[in-house]
Amino acid sequence: MKILVATEKPFAKDAIDGIAEIVKEAGYEFTLLEKYTSAGELCAAVAAANALIVRSDKVTREVIENAPNLKIVVRAGAGFDNLDLNACTEKGIVAMNTPGQNSNAVAELAVCFMIYLYRNSLTSGTGHELKGKRLGIHAYGNVGMNVARIARGIGMEIYAYDAFCPKEVIEKDGVIAVNSAEELYKTCDVVSLHIPATNETKNSVNYALLNLMPKGAMLVNTARKEVINESELEKIMTERTDFKYATDIMPANHEAMLKFGARYFSTPKKMGAETAEANVNAGLAAARQIVDFFKTGNIKFQVN
Ligand code: 3PG
Repeated sequence: MKILVATEKPFAKDAIDGIAEIVKEAGYEFTLLEKYTSAGELCAAVAAANALIVRSDKVTREVIENAPNLKIVVRAGAGFDNLDLNACTEKGIVAMNTPGQNSNAVAELAVCFMIYLYRNSLTSGTGHELKGKRLGIHAYGNVGMNVARIARGIGMEIYAYDAFCPKEVIEKDGVIAVNSAEELYKTCDVVSLHIPATNETKNSVNYALLNLMPKGAMLVNTARKEVINESELEKIMTERTDFKYATDIMPANHEAMLKFGARYFSTPKKMGAETAEANVNAGLAAARQIVDFFKTGNIKFQVN
């Protein structure tokens, strides 16, 4: 069996060493493609692979068609919007993610963004504290739960809306479950986004929703850029000089957004899961899931 790790954005060395060890212990062959710059390189590398581990790398239909021996692809992370699931299914390829493995890293970055923007992006002037403010968690999955845990320690009042998570799950964490996204945005000083990018959520964070937020509003996005209506966000930030936005996924209108100065921040490249811990957790989980799949047929984390 040939196991390929193909990551445009490399894992930490400890993660690579750990993955290689798991693969070799199972009696399989480990191959690595890092920092590639074209889809062609990925297509060439997958030709001989039986299993593939990726991060946000785009596993398109073209990639799948160039992988005649591929049986399983694991997205070492949470969001699997980068995998063409239909193409995988048509070829009988199992697609998985590794839920929860990098969620603390993403949650810590979300809270970091909140503090950064409340302190005027560390420019001069009087800022604000998070303590006592109302935090809205938009989607209560693994990352949302971790944000709630950290925010509780800071002393925030925490609300959440999740269309799919039962209220009891939210409330057992001492978080107030609200009935709609509208109610969440209307109630909260800070909203942290954790919805996946799907056909239903794309562009759903729009002017109408954002304009419900109270004065001094802050939106933090460590999820996906596609869920935001970027031109409407720019419009609201132009109209409302109190509105702040920090994102881990650079918007298409980044250059235009820079005019908002300390009210706007974007990482140059997605950094949410960029910790050694998250790389090790997600990378090793992916390797273990592949070995388990080949040895026992376990498809627990299948997403297609
Ligand atoms: C995820 O969905 O797990 C995060 O967005 C992390 O993505 P990355 O592995 O590309 O950093």
